[in-house]
Amino acid sequence: MDYQSEFRRSVDQPEEFWREKARAIDWIRPPEEIWKASENGHGQWFPDGLINSSDVALDANIRAGRGDQKALIYDSPVTDTQQSFTYNELTDQVARFAGVLKARGVGHGDRVIIYMPMVPQAVIAMLACARLGAIHSVVFGGFAAHELAVRISDAKPKAIVTASCGIEVAKVIPYKPLVDRAIEEADHKPEFCIVFQRPQVTAELQAGRDADWDQEMATATPADPVPVAATDPLYILYTSGTTGKPKGVVRDNGGHAVALRYSMELVYGAGPGDVFWAASDVGWVVGHSYIVYAPLFMGCTTILYEGKPVKTPDAGAFWRVCQDHKVNYLFTAPTAFRAVRKEDPEADLMAKYDISALKRLFLAGERLDPSTYEWLKEHTSLPVLDHWWQTETGWAICCNPVGIEEMRTKPGSATVPAPGFNVQVVSLDGRPMPAGEQGQVAVKLPLPPGCLSTVWGDDARFRKTYLDPIPGFYSSGDGGFIDEDGYVFIMGRTDDVINVAGHRLSTGEMEEVVASHPAVAECCVVGARDEMKGQIPVGLVLLKDGATIDPDELEEELVEMVRDRIGAIACFRRAMVVDRLPKTRSGKILRRVIRQIADGEEWSVPSTIDDPAILEEIDQKFRN
Ligand code: COA
Ligand code: AMP
Repeated sequence: MDYQSEFRRSVDQPEEFWREKARAIDWIRPPEEIWKASENGHGQWFPDGLINSSDVALDANIRAGRGDQKALIYDSPVTDTQQSFTYNELTDQVARFAGVLKARGVGHGDRVIIYMPMVPQAVIAMLACARLGAIHSVVFGGFAAHELAVRISDAKPKAIVTASCGIEVAKVIPYKPLVDRAIEEADHKPEFCIVFQRPQVTAELQAGRDADWDQEMATATPADPVPVAATDPLYILYTSGTTGKPKGVVRDNGGHAVALRYSMELVYGAGPGDVFWAASDVGWVVGHSYIVYAPLFMGCTTILYEGKPVKTPDAGAFWRVCQDHKVNYLFTAPTAFRAVRKEDPEADLMAKYDISALKRLFLAGERLDPSTYEWLKEHTSLPVLDHWWQTETGWAICCNPVGIEEMRTKPGSATVPAPGFNVQVVSLDGRPMPAGEQGQVAVKLPLPPGCLSTVWGDDARFRKTYLDPIPGFYSSGDGGFIDEDGYVFIMGRTDDVINVAGHRLSTGEMEEVVASHPAVAECCVVGARDEMKGQIPVGLVLLKDGATIDPDELEEELVEMVRDRIGAIACFRRAMVVDRLPKTRSGKILRRVIRQIADGEEWSVPSTIDDPAILEEIDQKFRN
């Protein structure tokens, strides 16, 4: 099979194509109907299929004879723990925890928020929800109480599952006070919380509302998988948009299972029994798709790593994990390797470990800069494969399709569109751009299975954000170009979303926090290029008339406010007071030119600006 014919079939005969791919999955009732179109080219995949994602991930592997194979390996340098679960053992734990939730009234369609560190219980809780047909919404542990509260108010969960603490290198972060604060702030109150107590911190439980994980599990009756419609939501994952309010990306069960299983073959070239490690966090889409679901759908062994690329204990950590668990495929964000390279530029620590089981390295989440790419190639001699995707799509939009045809790589390119994604670069009015010219990277509808079906509770926002801007296309929010060979180059967001250490954040959200400071009249937050983290946010602040606060003191307060409201991962550390903000005559802040200044790029004075001198002043401030 070659890439071109597979790709052409996927876009010319999508129903036939996905009917065939759907056969790889154990359905409860296989779909007869493959695609049901709604208006505007959007629609539903496998509308009459019945499935259970926990059954596909777990029980199906037992039926296939993999019950004694390792399903999950937990490797935690921060607690000095290694623990593994076979498919039999993981299924038993998941069925039990599903029993815990069921006994407390959680069922089909109910939401459950999971706010947990990288412990096996997070994976167990996700799969337990799936088993009951309940909808999980995992919130990344690095988000502050306010962010959790926003998600509680939006998802209206029946329950919250949490742990007593997370561990960041050597810092122990108690989670329960954050959960309590979030519930207090949210305008919806969950009925109950299940708390996994870790030895480092014992959380206080609120009588009548909170229950202890271990105690509940001890007496639980295991629950069987519940058949759900392929189109029923499996999960909601909130992601940053351009406004302060995060978007709840909704993923269905059937399309997700089919697409992710296919992606394991196509994108990663992985098969049953392989050891797959996505060094990410279950709170991000990479964690959902490639720590939890896809490797299990494929019958692989997946690694859950509670540690960092550096400092736990050193920059050899990734190679040590690869050696200990004979990892075949490693997937992480370029930032992680930039951190490793900074501490171990000659890769001396890599040489200490036997990483001979490793076949390929995969990078995504942000642009793979050519120098990190070259460093990895030189020191590992492995294929280093960039791929481009988003929370919204759940799997790679562009990749090197190694499972069917390994293509030549071009540094800076995520290679070619994955079968199913008819990627085109277009102008804002949908006209195709010539090869090599930059424009909006868009996907001609329909999207393949596995992509978002809507935005939770706000279908109008889904349409307005993704479908309306370029009729007939899904708007990715990224800009880029396609070269003469059909290779796709992603050059960065065209909106106010930034990418900090592989974490997607909204500058609009940070602006809301900064603007709420009593001394601030107006502000603007932009992403500035950062050698290690890709981008970091920087704020420009205009004081209210008569405000007398010292700029350093203000910066300190703003930094603290962003940490408190959004979380430390925002990495908001710089706020500069300016006399004026550069605006167009109609009053719009000129973010693009501020970004160029922040990045130290060439910039020119836009013709629309009302007062060009202000740009020089801002440039000076950045240079100081
Ligand atoms: N819970 C609580 N706090 C967290 C957290 C979590 N799960 N994750 C990060 N934080 C905190 C950190 O402790 C740090 O706090 P500090 O400002 O008090 O020091 C802050 O958020 C910033 O964290 P981070 O962005 O991770 O920076 P770092 O300097 O600690 O580490 C890297 C740098 C490169 C090692 C780290 O960013 C990394 O591993 N990146 C890979 C990203 C990744 O896997 N992305 C997923 C997409 S594939
Ligand atoms: P997230 O939804 O957190 O996965 O972030 C998605 C965004 O990250 C995309 O819209 C891109 O801006 C960026 N991104 C992800 N992967 C890549 C990649 N391989 N190259 C360039 N940018 C990427």
